[in-house]
Amino acid sequence: MRKTLMLKVDSEKPDASKIEVAAESIRKGGLVAFPTETVYGLGANALNADAVLALFEAKKRPLDNPPIVHIADPNEIYRLVEEVPKRAELLMKRFWPGPLTLVFRHSSLVPAVTVAGLDTVAVRMPKHQVALALIRQSGCPIAAPSANLAGKPSPTTAQHVYEDLDGRIDVILDGGSTDIGVESTVVDLSVDPPIVLRPGGTPFEALKQVFDDITLHPFVLAEAELPLEKMRSPGMRHKHYAPKAEVILVQGEISAVAAKVKEIAEFYRQKGVKVGVLATDETQGSYTADVVKSLGSRSNLALVAQRLFRLLREIDAQSVGIIIAEGVSSDGLGLAVMNRLRKASGYHIVKAS
Ligand code: TXA
Ligand code: MG
Repeated sequence: MRKTLMLKVDSEKPDASKIEVAAESIRKGGLVAFPTETVYGLGANALNADAVLALFEAKKRPLDNPPIVHIADPNEIYRLVEEVPKRAELLMKRFWPGPLTLVFRHSSLVPAVTVAGLDTVAVRMPKHQVALALIRQSGCPIAAPSANLAGKPSPTTAQHVYEDLDGRIDVILDGGSTDIGVESTVVDLSVDPPIVLRPGGTPFEALKQVFDDITLHPFVLAEAELPLEKMRSPGMRHKHYAPKAEVILVQGEISAVAAKVKEIAEFYRQKGVKVGVLATDETQGSYTADVVKSLGSRSNLALVAQRLFRLLREIDAQSVGIIIAEGVSSDGLGLAVMNRLRKASGYHIVKAS
């Protein structure tokens, strides 16, 4: 058990003495959670294999899923990777610092544990002043997955990090709520043409403007449709380990979605199950579930993305038995929102028509 120190920092002009406390911990092989513009990361010295191993342990993360390596200066990339393809340079110029992670073939400097034995490494230069200050002050690249326990929604506040990791990490830098709310977009540049492996804070449309041959990995859009009658089988409600509620995602045209959400909510309520609904401003007034939260207007997908993980946690905290989530458009940040909702639902997707 570690003693976790929580330090409040100004998100624009972080106090140098507090950053130094956190950086010293990183240099000694410690674990520091910090805000980025996407979600909070849990950082360790990326070049210290023992520290990175401790990072996996703290998060209970499987060792075969590597973290992202964060840098504070684009030039840092050259010692971490074998080659920076021309296309990567274009993306770095356009989108760094920011919510874009690029996958390259790594150099021999990067320990095997940091890349989970792969021959590639995922690198990103974040925009958040606290993240940048921490990396600079630590003097090393920082390996940082999202700062949640594996399987939980990514943290968008220091409080979320505390709930998951108190006693398991050394420092939490509290820089308030994160701006974007979903993780960075991950693009594989070790192949040509490049492939989006994970949709995120940098919209696919923006990447398309730079490379019109860039594609989405099939996993980004993967869904397995489940008929309503199958979903009603009692065994399904216990598929995930308690107390995390099962999520059902309802997709389609808005009025059909609202009708279907009501129908499913009523079905569970009649069985005595406490129901949570993840709605939008346009629909929330029409539901009578036990807990109803709005992601915001369907026309403001940036706000929907910013609120998504926080609201999933808030509904879960009310011990609901089921969460019914409305799908939104896949434009812009909506692509990342829908990808996270499909995954959160374990592909329990209902198409309303
Ligand atoms: O916004 C973000 O990306 C946040 C903040 C903290 O920067 N970080 C984050 O890290 O979301 P994490 O570890 O939760 O997600 C990293 C993703 C995972 O899907 C992982 O599989 C993928 O990046 N990844 C890491 N290394 C990779 C590699 N060499 N090749 C392909 N995918 C990789
Ligand atoms: Mg994560």
